[in-house]
Amino acid sequence: MSVILVTGGAGFIGSNFILSELRRRDDVRIVNLDCLTYAGNPMNLAGLRGDSRYLFIHGNIGDGCWLRNLFERYRPEAVVNFAAETHVDRSILGPEPFVRTNVMGTCCLLEEARCYWESLPASGRKAFRFLHISTDEVYGSLKLDSPPFTEENPFAPNSPYSASKAAADHFVRAYGHTYGLPTLTTNCSNNYGPRQFPEKMIPLMILNALEGKALPVYGDGRNVRDWLFVEDHCDALHRVLTHGRPGETYNIGGHCEKTNLEVVTTICRMLDAIRPKAPRVPHESLITFVEDRPGHDLRYAIDSSKIEREVGWTPKETFETGLERTIRWYIENPAWVAAARSGDYHVWIKRQYAAQ
Ligand code: NAD
Ligand code: TYD
Repeated sequence: MSVILVTGGAGFIGSNFILSELRRRDDVRIVNLDCLTYAGNPMNLAGLRGDSRYLFIHGNIGDGCWLRNLFERYRPEAVVNFAAETHVDRSILGPEPFVRTNVMGTCCLLEEARCYWESLPASGRKAFRFLHISTDEVYGSLKLDSPPFTEENPFAPNSPYSASKAAADHFVRAYGHTYGLPTLTTNCSNNYGPRQFPEKMIPLMILNALEGKALPVYGDGRNVRDWLFVEDHCDALHRVLTHGRPGETYNIGGHCEKTNLEVVTTICRMLDAIRPKAPRVPHESLITFVEDRPGHDLRYAIDSSKIEREVGWTPKETFETGLERTIRWYIENPAWVAAARSGDYHVWIKRQYAAQ
């Protein structure tokens, strides 16, 4: 049995990754270290209760002693680091937790991984991987007619969130370069799919529309994002982990650039078809333009040719099929939605959208 230490596995992408790895192979044990912030939801992995291949550990990537014990006890062959503060709007209101987890937490995890890795025999050192999950936002913002980001683009992060992720990416690179730790970094575009915390645009719009609430589009809605279905992302991560070259970074995108307004109107039209008798049909009538996000990046776009060429990955889901699966998942999982919206969710929504 090989052991993978996943961090932040109770969140959106991490939980989808754990589920997909355990579906894919029997010879793996996953230890999930997560401190369960507001975005971490144990319900995401409730289906694994009783599965001896899965172990949840409540802990923080910034706690070195704890990490040392974990490495000694479970002796992982790989670390996959998803743990992060992830919402740009929250980073604008308060950057400090982003520095603490995304920068200092990642450094702490790297340092403990290095100490453990250096204690391994040569064959173990060669096989070990540290896969760090990052974002396309580290590259900054593109003009509408600029070519998409390649791995060669210089970093130019614009938000406190992307600055913290860029800092972490630099440390990962430095640990690979200085100590030879076999690191891999992936920079992906905006994910969507089941289990995404409903502060992010797509689940927020789906749930608001289902409840006949306003759909708050920032600015003029012309900002462009590339959308990647989370299962395609997990497939890409598996391939990078097994076939990626240590020391390299890989961009991961969905070949799916859309303006925010296009995304929201597509959600509305799908809901018109799924719920034709809803009181607010057409759902587009709920769209409300609200004050723009400060420093709002105009466009992100990904050139994924390196990962396609080197590890043979391409996304499978179309935006229409992926979005329909996502909408149906939120409709079919009201208990999950209720749990996600407990805690301080309503406080956040009130604070963020107070001006409307
Ligand atoms: P998420 O916010 O849904 O989940 C983050 C998880 O990390 C939660 O379970 C949380 O409890 C855990 N966590 C936070 N701080 C921690 C700490 N100090 N120690 C241990 N656990 C901690 O995030 P996500 O959307 O699943 O994103 C996962 C990773 O992918 C992040 O690194 C993010 O930057 C990156 N990413 C996400 C997207 C996206 O569209 N969601 C796009 C690009 C990159
Ligand atoms: P988000 O899901 O927060 O991801 P990111 O900021 O990491 O790209 O936002 C996606 C896009 O949607 C972004 O351009 C901001 C916009 N947006 C809205 O227009 N309204 C909203 O209520 C939210 C949360 C986001």
